[in-house]
Amino acid sequence: MREDIERILLNEEQIHTIVAGLGRRISTDYQGKNLLMVSVLKGSVVFMADLMRAIDIPCRIDFMAVSSYGSGVKTSGVVKIVKDLDINLEGYDLLIVEDILDSGVTLSYLKKMLMDRGPASVRICTFLDKPERRKADIIPDYVGASVPDEFVVGYGLDYDEKYRNLPYLGVLKEAVYSK
Ligand code: IMP
Ligand code: MG
Repeated sequence: MREDIERILLNEEQIHTIVAGLGRRISTDYQGKNLLMVSVLKGSVVFMADLMRAIDIPCRIDFMAVSSYGSGVKTSGVVKIVKDLDINLEGYDLLIVEDILDSGVTLSYLKKMLMDRGPASVRICTFLDKPERRKADIIPDYVGASVPDEFVVGYGLDYDEKYRNLPYLGVLKEAVYSK
C-alpha cells in the first residue's frame, strides 16, 4: 500500500499526540455531563476507538452510517441514512465523531437531524478539517488537524474502501484515482 501514497501527512506519533490532546479537552468540557459519542461509520471508526480511550470521564458510544461518497472522490451531496442510532437521544450531550469535514454537507444534515431528536446538546469533533472545501454553514467544535485540499487516506479514511488500515495519514497518489 505504501507505494500508492504520495507523502505522509501525519505519522502514528503525531496522531497519538493530537488524539490525546482532544481527549483531554473533551474530558474537561464534558465533566458532569451525559456524554454520548456518536461515530459516523465507517471512516471514523479508528479515530473513535482511540479518542474514547483518551477520554477519562464516563461516556457512552453509538454508531450510525450514512453514505455521501459512493466509491468516488467527489461528494454527491446526497446523504442517506444506512444505519440509525440505537439510543434515544433525550438528555444526552451528543458528540458527533467524524473522520473528516470536507464540504460539510454530510455533517450539517446529520447535526440538524440529531438536534431534532431532543438531546441536551450537540457538538462535532472531527479528526481532520478541509476548510477550503466547505460548502455548508458548519463549524466543528473540536478539530484534530487541518489538511490541504488533497485526497487523504489511512487512519480509517478510504479510497474505494481501501487504505483504512494504514496506521498513518497519507496523501493518495493521483495516479491511483485517475486511472
Ligand atoms: P462532506 O459531506 O463533503 O463533508 O463529506 C465528508 C465525507 O467525505 C467524509 O466522512 C469522508 O468519508 C469523505 N471524504 C472527504 N474527503 C476525503 C478524503 O480526502 N479522503 C477520504 N475520504 C474523504
Ligand atoms: Mg466518513
